[in-house]
Amino acid sequence: MYMLKGKHILVGVSGGIAAYKAAALVRALVKDGAEVRVVMTPMAKHFITSLTMATVSKHPVLAEFYNPENGDWNNHVSLSLWADAYVVAPATANTLAKMAHGIADNLLLTTYLSMRCPVIAAPAMDMDMWNHPATQNNLQTLQKRGVHIIEPPAGELASGLEGKGRMEEPERIAAFIEQLFVKKKSLAGKTVLVTAGPTYEAIDPVRFIGNHSSGKMGYALAESLANCGAQVLLISGPTSLPVPKGVELVRVTAAAEMHAAVTEHFASVDVAIFCAAVADYTPEKKSTHKIKREKEPLLIALKPTVDIAAAVGKQKRKNQLTVGFALETGDELTNAQKKLQTKNLDMIVLNSLNDEGMGFGSDTNKITIIKKDGAIATCPLLPKQKVAEIIIDAVVDAMMC
Ligand code: C5P
Repeated sequence: MYMLKGKHILVGVSGGIAAYKAAALVRALVKDGAEVRVVMTPMAKHFITSLTMATVSKHPVLAEFYNPENGDWNNHVSLSLWADAYVVAPATANTLAKMAHGIADNLLLTTYLSMRCPVIAAPAMDMDMWNHPATQNNLQTLQKRGVHIIEPPAGELASGLEGKGRMEEPERIAAFIEQLFVKKKSLAGKTVLVTAGPTYEAIDPVRFIGNHSSGKMGYALAESLANCGAQVLLISGPTSLPVPKGVELVRVTAAAEMHAAVTEHFASVDVAIFCAAVADYTPEKKSTHKIKREKEPLLIALKPTVDIAAAVGKQKRKNQLTVGFALETGDELTNAQKKLQTKNLDMIVLNSLNDEGMGFGSDTNKITIIKKDGAIATCPLLPKQKVAEIIIDAVVDAMMC
């Protein structure tokens, strides 16, 4: 009852015959307590009227970039800040293709590109369009980016053909959205610290020693943790990634700064996830001027940095949980198990550079989770968003033990 109370759901309707079901979806969401707004593509209006959608959603429908009568601008950026979830239902093959390729020629699509909240798509199309490699590729692209796809069930299609392609029933789409928010609450009241990205160790005012970490895994974790209701503090080395909605960001550059930031906050968090690729060595001295090119080889003396995870592992209270990452190139399991012990972690996420699809900057990851009780779980190659959800599920399980 009222599972979606206080939630803002934006429903995007694209132009397919299943658009008539979008009215039932909006009703189901409103019945569940959500505040719903509707954005339609020009084609969708041929399948269901704006009047119907405005009546069921209790708000004017948004379809154009602006009102030609008075120049009133429909701001897709403020729509995306308003929404807690964006569900595109029906999502036609055309709309899915445009979403996958970043085409922004209507309000539904510009809104999608600005979205920071979870996006759900319920495809609807004819069986052959669904099966076409182009559509399947687009779906994969969207899934890799974290879009939840509600697969169409098999059944009779508007064309008279039997197969996969008809949109999932509105009640089931509404139930899926409810589930997203139930899951969301599993970390309500908990504070989680996440370290992410590389660190840059300055050699002189211009050069540094860094690494290839993109920060994508840590940012995906921060986003999913916030979606699960946690208060998230993301302590990030230099990256160019957008800050996920609802996440507090502390930017740092060098390992020493990351150490200071983690030390400052660790006592007040319930969980700490050390996802950053922290430099293990830093130059002993930072030159105050740009080092000039000389004929002789340049030797830079390096000193070890503090192992942040190990340092706070020593101060860990009984009710705190820490998770580390291990990126290995050989003897993976043994090395990861050793790190689990020496850093006093509750679990460690192992990924190997030897695995295909795994690597710096990639959108996918293949992990093995090793827990301190010795349990080992290996996952297939998955989008980083999905990997984040699996790690969070393991954290939630461990907190309940
Ligand atoms: O020992 P290694 O660097 O492989 O350990 C990786 C794990 O330790 C990661 O969780 C990483 O974030 C953390 N770490 C750290 N501080 C360092 C080095 C690694 O917190 N100086």
